Amino acid sequence: RSNNTVMSAVRSEATSTCPVLTKFKKDCATPTPFLRDVANAIADDMQAGLAVHGGGDLEMILTYVDALPSGKEEGLFYALDLGGTNFRVRSVQLGGEEERVVATKSEQLSIPQKLMIGTSEELFGFIASKLADFVAKEEPGRFRLDQGRKREIGFTFSFPVNQTSIDSGTLIKWTKGFNVSGMEGKNVVACLNEAMEAHGLDMRVSALVNDGVGTLAGARYWDKDVMAGVILGTGTNACYVEQKHAIPKLQNQSSSGTTIINTEWGGFSKCLPRTIFDQEMDKDSLNPGEHLYEKMISGMYLGEIVRRVLLHMCQTSDLFGQAVPAKLETPLALKSQDLCKMQEDNTDDLSSVGSILYNIFEVKADLKDRRRVMEVCDTVVKRGGRLAGAGIVAILERIERETKRLASGQRTVVAMDGALYEKYPQYRQYMQDALVELLGDELASHVQIKHTKDVSGLGAALLAATNSIY
Ligand code: GLC
Repeated sequence: RSNNTVMSAVRSEATSTCPVLTKFKKDCATPTPFLRDVANAIADDMQAGLAVHGGGDLEMILTYVDALPSGKEEGLFYALDLGGTNFRVRSVQLGGEEERVVATKSEQLSIPQKLMIGTSEELFGFIASKLADFVAKEEPGRFRLDQGRKREIGFTFSFPVNQTSIDSGTLIKWTKGFNVSGMEGKNVVACLNEAMEAHGLDMRVSALVNDGVGTLAGARYWDKDVMAGVILGTGTNACYVEQKHAIPKLQNQSSSGTTIINTEWGGFSKCLPRTIFDQEMDKDSLNPGEHLYEKMISGMYLGEIVRRVLLHMCQTSDLFGQAVPAKLETPLALKSQDLCKMQEDNTDDLSSVGSILYNIFEVKADLKDRRRVMEVCDTVVKRGGRLAGAGIVAILERIERETKRLASGQRTVVAMDGALYEKYPQYRQYMQDALVELLGDELASHVQIKHTKDVSGLGAALLAATNSIY
């Protein structure tokens, strides 16, 4: 028998002797017609959310970003980025259409876990102190503030915010493991302002933006065909260019032109293939019942779903031998990065899968177990990538309704950022497959998913420039 036949014999034996795995794979299946239903349901919720506030699962937040960067922006602007595992500060010296970004400097810090679930004073105090350090180290030769101007900030705050103007908004709810007390309903810019004042920082927030909006704006600065910004990282979201006349909930409906909508698509919840493992993970999360789509497709959750499936397999079959290893019972012990590293292993005996499992769970997994683990990883990653692809199709089809760009053969770019997309080739491929299956070869050939790493900081600084009060 060829090597392949042997492999598939072992694989099917592995699956057939493990009813949990067989059922899990079946429950996670996302055939094309099913994905079509998902894309349509997302589209319906987009429409419902555009019609009235709270009309559907997707918030469809009005961002007050009507003008995207033109390239002509000039001056010194800052970006603050809070929203995932890291916090970033950036300064950008913009030189207008010819020179563009003359100088830029950034610093990244990881947010201490305790600040993610502490008080707003602690969180914003930390941000303001890091910002003060950053500004204090500024090299006057490279960065130049024009006379009579304040330092202006584009604040990327990557959580659902009820935006009340370009430079203010109240937190709707926390996502992604943040749960800072007493902040829901509060103006996040006011929180930052108070902390900056306390640190003697004379700076002004001129734009409050979501990371998806920042990505769209930053990418558009270099490429006029960018119509959407999508994040596939710790969390997930999509923001896109909408025609104002197609937004019934916009007060002034007669207005022409476009505006950016922050969909908060992570909140989508209908017709998702949720298994018992998804349900239990959700129940144990900091935001139960919320952001269910995000919990199936984004980086913070994929590893945890796999861990829960493995634990159950271990308890009900002979995976990893008789005893249940204690580490396998530790929530969040398995990260998406670990899944990715395991999927990189293309050796016959899956030796690095074996050592990763040993390092994380202190188990000695034989070849049959390693193969089963790989099947679980692949099932979760495939489902996540394909569901994300269906979401992107819903966004593209929404844009298409008004613009007919794809039908007329016009290149349409989705600016993409986030470590999950960047670092996980199998996930990317599954996402792309779903996109082509749903859109068809012809339309899909005009779509470019463009990886625009860390562009949201530039985008936020540019939006601060566009909305400068000077
Ligand atoms: C979460 C947030 C959303 C953000 C996304 C990606 O879904 O609610 O605002 O854009 O994560 O960071």
